[in-house]
Amino acid sequence: APTLLWGGRFTGAIDDLMFKFNESLTFDKALCKADVQGSIAFAKGLNQLHLLTDDELNQIVSGLQKVAQEWEEGKFVIDTKSDEDIHTANERRLGELIGSQIAGKLHTGRSRNEQIATDMRLWARDQLAGLAESMKGVLQTCATQAKSSLPILMPGYTHLQRAQPVRFSHWLLGHANFIQGDLQRLEGVQERVSCCPLGVGALAGNPFGIDRDFLARELGFSSVHQNSLAAVADRDFVVEILQWASLLMVHLSRLSEDLILFSTAEFGFVRVADAYSTGSSLMPQKKNPDSLELIRGKAGRVMGQASGFLSTLKSLPTSYNKDLQESVEPLLDCVKTVSQCLTIIQGVLGSLHIFGDKMKAALTADMLATDVADYLVLKGVPFRQTHHIAGAIVRKAEEKEVSIAELSLEDLKQISPLFEADVVEVFDFERSVEKRSTTGGTSRSSVLAQIEAIEALVGKS
Ligand code: ARG
Repeated sequence: APTLLWGGRFTGAIDDLMFKFNESLTFDKALCKADVQGSIAFAKGLNQLHLLTDDELNQIVSGLQKVAQEWEEGKFVIDTKSDEDIHTANERRLGELIGSQIAGKLHTGRSRNEQIATDMRLWARDQLAGLAESMKGVLQTCATQAKSSLPILMPGYTHLQRAQPVRFSHWLLGHANFIQGDLQRLEGVQERVSCCPLGVGALAGNPFGIDRDFLARELGFSSVHQNSLAAVADRDFVVEILQWASLLMVHLSRLSEDLILFSTAEFGFVRVADAYSTGSSLMPQKKNPDSLELIRGKAGRVMGQASGFLSTLKSLPTSYNKDLQESVEPLLDCVKTVSQCLTIIQGVLGSLHIFGDKMKAALTADMLATDVADYLVLKGVPFRQTHHIAGAIVRKAEEKEVSIAELSLEDLKQISPLFEADVVEVFDFERSVEKRSTTGGTSRSSVLAQIEAIEALVGKS
């Protein structure tokens, strides 16, 4: 039977399926670099305590660097009979490289419970920094597209019914605005991920007096976890990442949904580039926006991971329990999914064909009924009344089967004597859009201000 790390007190061998059921190397090998990083810091901590001589420390550090290099180059040979997880695999290999006499000292006072918590946080810290960069890339693409499509007007919708004209760029920046919020929230998550659990032992603390502040500093963490029982059991950072990612995915999904709708023949506002579409095996004419449908679909996957892992956590007794291993796969998968979705959506947006003429053709004069009401407001009529009057105008146009812009001044005067010849100016989509020039409006200047804000955000890093 293979010798397992913890085998000393065992007489019987582990069941084959149980070994496979229990092992986590299949997935936690993704943490290989972080595991080596954590071990090097820990070895330095032991050296400070004179539990490792300088020579032993040097051998351990260069051995660990060799281990990391083997992973990097795909040369690490996994022992499928004994490598239970990334920690045991790395320790086993280190022993082979530098001899188990010295390698065997590395785990002094250390537990895999603190190792996995440390590794996951180190890994997540790196990955979240990458996601933040990807999000900035998406925002930059939104800003670039908004700038180049500034003159394009389209119907704005509520209840999916045509409501008021807006700039296409304003619609796009509306989606960007949600992502800006996600980026802000990410900063808070990153701060809490950056808390060091190393040096707490299996559950009760370190008996040799290891300098935990030093370990945290060595690993670039911004704080030190303050309770050993909590430190090994704390996967709140995983929950936070999953929940943060869920909301981000909801935002990407809503953007995708709009684009899927806008790319139908019925709308025809946009076309997703070939690079992000796929065809049908049966219907030769088809081109489907699969990229966007997958993003919409994967939102459900990430939300499921969030609620799934929260359920795992719910009834765990104090400190480490093996259930916690179930936090690793959702974390890895969620980060990979979000990263892919961000890259894909940036590609879709950057290569999107925008059909300004189709959007313009979808604008109808009734979408200016509010502007007609506003016209009378400026003549001193209370808005409640002007709303009624404009409603009567819409009704009249319907009766005559014309648009409200085609009614004669006489028709209008019949409904309210306050209408004058200058009312024709109201029936102008560009004017309607430009009137909305306060912060957050759809006028050119308001949209430019939004673009500037994004560029400032993306520029700072
Ligand atoms: N693979 C384990 C995990 O992911 C590492 C910690 C194992 N600790 C233990 N006492 N069995 O949680």
